[in-house]
Amino acid sequence: MSEMANADPEGIDGVRMSWNVWPRTKVEASKCVVPLAASIAPIRHHPEIPTLPYAPLRCKSCSAVLNPFSRVDFTAKIWICPFCYQRCHFPPHYAMISETHLPGELYPQYTTVQYALPQSTHPNPALDSSQQANPSPVFLFLLDTCMIEEELGFVKSELKRAIGLLPDNALVGFVSFGTQVQVHELGFSDMSKVYVFRGTKEVSKDQVLEQLGLGVGARRVAGAYQKGVQNGFPNSGVTRFLLPASECEYTLNSLLDELQTDQWPVSPGNRSSRCTGVALSVAASLLGACLPGTGARIIALVGGPCTEGPGTIVSKDLSDPVRSHKDLDKDAAPYFKKAVKFYESLAKQLVGQGHVLDLFASALDQVGVAEMKVAVEKTGGLVVLAESFGHSVFKDSFKRVFEEGEHSLGLCFNGTLEINCSKDIKIQGIIGPCTSLEKKGPAVADTVIGEGNTTMWKMCGLDKSTCLTVFFDLSSSDRSSAPGTANPQLYLQFLTSYQDPEGQSMLRVTTVTRRWIDTAVSSEELVQGFDQEAAAVVVARLTSLKMEMEEGFDAIRWLDRSLIRLCSKFGDYRKDDPSSFTLNPCFSLYPQFMFNLRRSQFVQVFNNSPDETAYFRMLLNRENITNAAVMIQPSLISYSFNSLPAPALLDVASIAADRILLLDSYFSVVIFHGMTIAQWRNMGYQNQPEHQAFAQLLSAPHDDAQIIIHERFPVPRLVVCDQHGSQARFLLAKLNPSATYNNAQEIAAGSDIIFTDDVSLQVFFEHLQRLAVQS
Ligand SMILES: *[C@@H]1O[C@H](CO)[C@@H](O)[C@H](O)[C@H]1NC(C)=O
Ligand SMILES: *[C@@H]1O[C@H](CO)[C@@H](O)[C@H](O)[C@H]1NC(C)=O
Ligand SMILES: *[C@@H]1O[C@H](CO)[C@@H](O)[C@H](O)[C@H]1NC(C)=O
Ligand SMILES: *[C@@H]1O[C@H](CO)[C@@H](O)[C@H](O)[C@H]1NC(C)=O
Ligand SMILES: *[C@@H]1O[C@H](CO)[C@@H](O)[C@H](O)[C@H]1NC(C)=O
Ligand SMILES: [Zn+2]
Repeated sequence: MSEMANADPEGIDGVRMSWNVWPRTKVEASKCVVPLAASIAPIRHHPEIPTLPYAPLRCKSCSAVLNPFSRVDFTAKIWICPFCYQRCHFPPHYAMISETHLPGELYPQYTTVQYALPQSTHPNPALDSSQQANPSPVFLFLLDTCMIEEELGFVKSELKRAIGLLPDNALVGFVSFGTQVQVHELGFSDMSKVYVFRGTKEVSKDQVLEQLGLGVGARRVAGAYQKGVQNGFPNSGVTRFLLPASECEYTLNSLLDELQTDQWPVSPGNRSSRCTGVALSVAASLLGACLPGTGARIIALVGGPCTEGPGTIVSKDLSDPVRSHKDLDKDAAPYFKKAVKFYESLAKQLVGQGHVLDLFASALDQVGVAEMKVAVEKTGGLVVLAESFGHSVFKDSFKRVFEEGEHSLGLCFNGTLEINCSKDIKIQGIIGPCTSLEKKGPAVADTVIGEGNTTMWKMCGLDKSTCLTVFFDLSSSDRSSAPGTANPQLYLQFLTSYQDPEGQSMLRVTTVTRRWIDTAVSSEELVQGFDQEAAAVVVARLTSLKMEMEEGFDAIRWLDRSLIRLCSKFGDYRKDDPSSFTLNPCFSLYPQFMFNLRRSQFVQVFNNSPDETAYFRMLLNRENITNAAVMIQPSLISYSFNSLPAPALLDVASIAADRILLLDSYFSVVIFHGMTIAQWRNMGYQNQPEHQAFAQLLSAPHDDAQIIIHERFPVPRLVVCDQHGSQARFLLAKLNPSATYNNAQEIAAGSDIIFTDDVSLQVFFEHLQRLAVQS
C-alpha cells in the first residue's frame, strides 16, 4: 500500500472490503473463511467528491447509473452499462460529449459523485418554493422526570443549552414522562397547557390523536389549518405542539424551570413508576400525525428503567434486579421478549413515518438499552450511555448533536440505499443502522445476514460517519457460458438518496470495481487483496450478530475454528511441523485481532450488563473500520524522555515506571502514569522552571487525548490514573497477560477445547500454529 492509501484507506468511495479480489465460485468463496463483505460509509465527507447539479442518467434495462466504468462510444453517442451490458443512447443534452469533454460522472477518478436533485414537488400547492426548499429540522424532546433533583437539574440545563443552539426555524416539541405522559402544548399563550396520558396501558395512534385534538375531524379546523400551512406544514398539530425554536424558547425555558421530578409517591423498596414505552409511543404518534415523511427526531432522555405499561423491563420491586446476561442466557428474564416485541413495533411505526429515535440514557443501573436497541438501530438514531447527566460523556455528546459548522455531526435524513451488482453476486444483507425495505430481485441471496431479503434499505437518520456492512454471496450456478464471463472485473454500485442538513435532496452514487480471480490458478493475488483490518471488523460484527440471534452460539469456538481454517489455507508450512509455520504479511496481523476480539467486550459479555453490550454493539456496527478496529484492539502509545511518542505493544510489558501510556479503546481513553512519573508529578517538578521537559512530557498525552475526544461521538470517558492505582484496571484489562502465562506445554495436544480462555498472545499463537498444520 502506498503512503496515500494508508492515510485514507477508504479513498473517495468510503468503501473497504474484506477481500479486494474475489474468487469466481461459491465453493472457492467459502474456502476463504472470512466472508465477502464491504463496509461502506454512504455519505462520508470527502473534499474531492463533485456535486453535479442535474439528475443522473440510468441504464434503461437495469437502472444502474452512468459511471466511469461504462464503455462509451463517443461518435455513436452510446454507453454500455457494465452491470447488464445493455447499450444505451445518450439523451440530446449529452450531445456535446467527447473524449476531451466529459461530464463529471465519466471522469475516471470520480467513482463517487453526488447529484443535487431538484426538490420533489410538495403535495401542498399552498407552499411557495422557498418553503419547500427548506424543510425545518424537527426535534421532539422526551424527558424522563423520575430522577433525583440533582440529575434533573443537570439534564434541564443541558436541554436549555441545546435549545439555545438550535437554528431559529427548527421545530421543537416537548413531552415529559414519569408515572404518566405529559404532552406540552407550546403554542398556547399565557399559561401552559398539558395533555396527560396514563402510563399503564398501550395507547393506539388514533387514541393519541383523538385526545390531542388531532383526530380526523379536528384536522379540518380552518384557522389552525391556515396557520399550519404558513409554517410549511398543512397540519394544526404543528402550530400547537411543534413550534419554531425562535418562538418557543422562552416558553420552553420557563416550562423547564417549573418542571419538577415525578410527584407520584414511591414506597420504600420500590422503583419509581416510569412509563418509557407509552411515552415513546405517544411521541411517535404525535410526529406521525404532524410531520409524516420528514426528518423528525425523538430525542429521548432516560434516567432509569421502564417499570410501567408496555415496554417494561423490570418490576417495581427493588429486590428484583434488572436482567443480567446470565438471566437472558437461562431464559430467566420474564420481561425481556415482550419488551423487545413492543420496541420492534415502535421501530416499525417510526420507520414507516420516516422518523428517528435518539436515546440518551444516563443512570448507574440499566435503563433498557438492550430492549430499545432495535428502535434506535432500525431508525438510524444516535445512542449515548452515561453514568449521569452531569458526566462529560453525556454533556459533551449531547451538545455535539446541536452544533453547527465544521464540528457538526452532519445529521441527514430520509435516506435510502440501493445496491446494484454484477450478475452472479448476491446480497445477503446489511449489519448496521438501517431497515430492509423488502425489495426483492435477482441479486437477493437466499440466506439472510442482518437486514436482508432486499436490495433496498431505509435509513431514517444517517450522518457523515454512518457505516454499514454489506454481506455478499455468489450464485451457485455454473457460469462458464454466461454472457460477461469474459469480463475479469466485477462491479458494485451503491446509490444513497437522502436529504442533507439544509434539506437539499441528494443522490450519492459510488461505483466500485474489483477483480475476479480463479483461485485454483492463483491464490497469491487473492492473498494480496486481503484487508486484515476490515476483515477483523467484519468478523467482529458477524460474531456479535450471531451471539444475539443464534441460541447457544459458542463465539469463542466459532472464532477459533475459523481462524485455524484460515491459517491452514493461507499459511506456509510443512504438514505436522508447527515450527515451519509462517504467515504472509497480508495475514500476519489478523490472528492478533482475533486474539483481542476473543477477549473484548463483544465476546466476553458476562463482564458487562446487557445494556452496555447493546451499546457497544450498536457503535461497533455504525462506526468506520478504523474506529471499530480500535474497539476490538485498542491502540497504545508510550511517552518517555529522550524519545518521541511511539506505538507500544498491547502488553503488560509495555508498562514502565518512567513512562506514560495513552490507551485508546474507543469507549474510554486512559492516561496511565508510571510510578516514577507519578511521584515526580506529586512532588510538583513540572512547576519548576528547570524541569520544563518533564512538564512537556506530562502534558503531551493529555493534548493527544483531547484531540481524540474532540473528534469522537459519543464522547469517550477520560480516565487519568497512576500505576498501582485503582483506576489502573481500565488499562490492565486491555493488555495481553504475557507475564502471567509462560507455560505453553500444559495444554494437551489435539484437545477438543481449542484454547483456554485467558491465554497470552504467545500461547495463543503456539496453539494456532500447531492446529493449523495438523493433517
Ligand atoms: C411496590 O412494588 C410492589 C411490587 O412490585 C407493587 O405491588 C406495589 O404496587 C408497589 N407500590 C407502589 C406504591 O408502587
Ligand atoms: C424521502 O425519500 C423517498 C425515497 O427516496 C422519496 O420518494 C421522498 O420524496 C422523500 N421524502 C421527502 C419528504 O423528501
Ligand atoms: C439494479 O437495481 C434495480 C433497482 O433496485 C433493480 O431493478 C435491477 O434489477 C438491479 N440490476 C442489477 C443488475 O442488479
Ligand atoms: C425473507 O423472505 C422470505 C419469503 O420471501 C420469508 O419467508 C423469510 O422469512 C424472509 N426472511 C427474513 C429474515 O426476513
Ligand atoms: C473514521 O472516523 C473518524 C471520526 O470519528 C475520522 O477522524 C476518520 O478520518 C475516519 N476514518 C476514515 C478512514 O474515514
Ligand atoms: Zn444496466
